[in-house]
Amino acid sequence: MRRNNGWTPRFLALNSQSMAILKIARMGHPVLRKVAQPLSDPAAPGVIGLIRDMVETMEDANGAGLAAPQVHISARVVVFQAPEDRSEAPDVDPGDGEEAFDHTAELTVLINPEIEFLSEDRELGMEGCLSVPGLRGLVPRCPHIRYSGYNEKGEHFVREARGFHARVVQHEVDHLDGILYLQRMEDMGALMFESEMKHYIQAEDAQDAVSEERSE
Ligand code: NI
Repeated sequence: MRRNNGWTPRFLALNSQSMAILKIARMGHPVLRKVAQPLSDPAAPGVIGLIRDMVETMEDANGAGLAAPQVHISARVVVFQAPEDRSEAPDVDPGDGEEAFDHTAELTVLINPEIEFLSEDRELGMEGCLSVPGLRGLVPRCPHIRYSGYNEKGEHFVREARGFHARVVQHEVDHLDGILYLQRMEDMGALMFESEMKHYIQAEDAQDAVSEERSE
């Protein structure tokens, strides 16, 4: 059937009250390469069910954010939890290299998002992705953005973000345009397994200490 206005979401028909953990598409699945469709009505019944399932899936997978294409739905919807005051990448537990995301941080639901870069700078920061399990990489991102979109009530909002918050938004919105963080990396030498990250960080810290000594 030809899609009217590009938007005939599968999930609108489901409208289930119960929450579900959804299957996450991994790199290679074509849904991750597609440009997702905007929602014609962000407050439509059924959208809230999708959002609940996305939040449950994100928390279950210990992610900071999730975009609808990652759960096989090609719609311009993302959810994320980024503490407002966190300016840097999350701390890494040196024990097992697992990141512990703070799921008590404010949840943002962002439908049909737009991003405006407020700085010409690009900062490198470590990213991972639930669709690329086990890997981390250094990705250049704009450190200061303004973003806008609709929340789950269909209300339009505009917000400024810096640092980690700005990074998460750019990462998630990239998913809506069919882009994975690996495609944003400039140095594939800075791609690593999550389990090796503690060694990378130790090496970086040692290097920083040396350059600090030299500059003193
Ligand atoms: Ni991702």
